[in-house]
Amino acid sequence: MAAAAAVARGAPPSPAQQSQIEHGRRLVNIGGCNDCHTPGWTTHGGTAPRNRLLVGGGLAFQGPWGTTYPTNLRLMVQSMSLARWTRAVRTTRARPMMPWWVFRDMSDGDIAAIYDYIRSLGPAGSPAPAYVPPGTPAPPSYLKLVVPQAPASGAARHRGRRPEGEPLARLFPAAGRERWRKINPGEWAVPGTALLKSLTGVARMRGLVP
Ligand code: HEC
Repeated sequence: MAAAAAVARGAPPSPAQQSQIEHGRRLVNIGGCNDCHTPGWTTHGGTAPRNRLLVGGGLAFQGPWGTTYPTNLRLMVQSMSLARWTRAVRTTRARPMMPWWVFRDMSDGDIAAIYDYIRSLGPAGSPAPAYVPPGTPAPPSYLKLVVPQAPASGAARHRGRRPEGEPLARLFPAAGRERWRKINPGEWAVPGTALLKSLTGVARMRGLVP
């Protein structure tokens, strides 16, 4: 049952509702939602005043998919029934860096607890900036993911070898394909950029990059 609905009507939460909200708070903290959705969370050692929790726009990223800003979850849940929230998080394929797959391992009860917790915080903040497609100026601030430039000598060093990693190299010509390394059948990485590789995989699945 949606405890927050009762709380929003002004009734003091029952002990059962309180423990449901507390379960949601713990899932949000363990799930790392604040890392991105709460401005200043990571720079203050995983703390934030209540009026800043989950107001979105916190940690924005720019990469091959464009620039994405974490949603203001407190505003999002205000206009949503529990059923719509559950459908939204079960079906979302939000862009990077949103790890939408975390909801797979959550029960409907877990997802309801998160909803109750966020609603119990009440509305706050303003909507996050809208998604900006690749190659278009984006409002600051965001973290930019870049592939390091290949050393000029790289091509010579690897001359004569069968070049690997062509599909990714075509996306990032500046990286120089001789630096790509095959790590699994069909998967390539520049050492140290496994994160970027997996993000590119996500972006490609979404059809954001070729
Ligand atoms: C690494 C950063 C990051 C983490 C961690 C993260 N999010 Fe997000 N989230 C985002 C970004 C960025 C967006 C906006 C994506 C877009 O524009 O498509 C987003 C969007 C969303 C949306 C809207 C989805 C939609 O389809 O509109 C919901 C709901 C959401 N996040 C909930 C959560 C919850 C709950 C957690 C914790 C379990 C969480 N997020 C963890 C970055 C993150």
